Amino acid sequence: MSDTISPALGDQGFKYESLLKTKIDEESGEKIVVKGDVEFPPRKVWMQTYGCQMNVADSDRMVAHLKNLNFDVTTEQEQADLVLFNTCAIRDKANQKFYSHLGETKRLKSKEKKVVIGAGGCIAETEGKELVKKYSQLDFAFGHDSIDLLPEMIFRTYAGDNKFSINTWDRTNDYSIQTRINHGTPQAYVNIIKGCDKFCSYCIVPFTRGREKSRKTVEILKDVSRLVEYSGIQEITLLGQNVNSFGKENGESLAQLLYQLGEIKDLKIVRYTTSHPYDVSDELIEAHGKIENLSNHLHLPVQSGSNTVLKRMLREYSVDHYLGLLEKLRSSNPNIVISTDIIAGFPNETQQEHQETLDLLEKAKFDFIYSYAFSPRKGTKAARGSDFLTKEVRGERLREIQKFQLDVQQQVRSKLVGKKMTVLVDGVGNMGGVKRWKGRTNCMRIVHFEGSSDLNYMWNWVDLEITESTALSCQGKILKNHGRHLVSQILR
Ligand code: SAH
Ligand code: SF4
Ligand code: F3S
Repeated sequence: MSDTISPALGDQGFKYESLLKTKIDEESGEKIVVKGDVEFPPRKVWMQTYGCQMNVADSDRMVAHLKNLNFDVTTEQEQADLVLFNTCAIRDKANQKFYSHLGETKRLKSKEKKVVIGAGGCIAETEGKELVKKYSQLDFAFGHDSIDLLPEMIFRTYAGDNKFSINTWDRTNDYSIQTRINHGTPQAYVNIIKGCDKFCSYCIVPFTRGREKSRKTVEILKDVSRLVEYSGIQEITLLGQNVNSFGKENGESLAQLLYQLGEIKDLKIVRYTTSHPYDVSDELIEAHGKIENLSNHLHLPVQSGSNTVLKRMLREYSVDHYLGLLEKLRSSNPNIVISTDIIAGFPNETQQEHQETLDLLEKAKFDFIYSYAFSPRKGTKAARGSDFLTKEVRGERLREIQKFQLDVQQQVRSKLVGKKMTVLVDGVGNMGGVKRWKGRTNCMRIVHFEGSSDLNYMWNWVDLEITESTALSCQGKILKNHGRHLVSQILR
């Protein structure tokens, strides 16, 4: 890559790092972080992240800030000095889960030890002030654009100034941010666009994440190159609620970005999510047949198989347009694997409209789907009018969709037997007393395999032959273990 790229890398939020000093406490021998006259002894943070990959990436950024201030992550809430929630508001269930978990933290405050409790994310963005008022144990809440103010919030709370909510929107023109990771795995999430301008009638995201803003391609390339070169990253997932809108305001496009990421040596897999079908361009479809490191998987949420429901959802495309995209994608890349999201029981959905979704599942042959019963979100258009559907009808339709898809999935996946695929191993489990490793293919399928008992396969690249494949699970046998670095091509 050229050296003429601007050095500005969107890391303004971490500027304070240069002001931090460390010393060793003479009595305890512990490391102390010092900023001016404030001292940070070793502390522990317990975190809970709800919702989508963007929240996972945001949590990583929060942890990066906290590590700077001498926090370590603990999985034991009882041991925590700081309890931090990163919330999601997409469906009522997500909200209820958080409220109940927050409710349970009240007991932590009755102990002698000072425990600080905070909440960020999509619920905190819109309801932060009310939450801090309503829950006496909640010390502070903050929105997405305030994540980089977390160190200041920590200074404030430990100085005794609690009960506040910070929800500033970043109104600067350029969206600039450097990816921060802490997990030591070869995978990273990379934000490329924030917000959403689509305002689908059921969706809360445009209210919680604000307006669309893209990073500049040049900044992303520099960011990713750094991750690959210095942090051992081999697989990235580009993130945004609508990644297909990427670059519009800067005269750039997702397809062009993907071509350039395709040039980065040692970057083995590039994924992106989530795509809106209205904005999938021919240039992008063509890229799927050309770029070597671009994943063979595409998640393309359709939401419904009924044109009338799509219209009420304000999705801007028809079923035919969607099926046309699948056809073009599959002719550009015959191995492409497509998955989708479906909402069951949209307001006033008729039996006929529901049936049209089942018909679409039959035609589209998705590899897997995420499906949800419609959940009214306060402030959205779809939550306003009257609605003749009951919770029971929504549940019934959801179950019917899921059962129908399982049959489709069985047909699609039975064809995998005998295929050779490379996986990146990301877990291990026990199946009937036998240790079985788990990895993900380039096309996002999970495959289980039994390795040599004396080897640790974690984060290795392994070539497998698929021996068994059902609607829900896939088994393979080892052909070759490449270790942690893949030199040859990915089998897909
Ligand atoms: N930006 C993505 C998806 C964001 S939310 C897109 O446009 O596809 C993830 C999924 O949650 C959506 O695809 C949708 O299927 C589901 N969802 C969003 N709002 C919902 C609601 N109010 N009720 C039920 N499901 C919802
Ligand atoms: Fe929500 Fe629609 Fe935006 Fe996706 S595109 S985040 S469903 S408003
Ligand atoms: Fe949830 Fe916010 Fe993501 S509402 S799905 S965490 S954008």
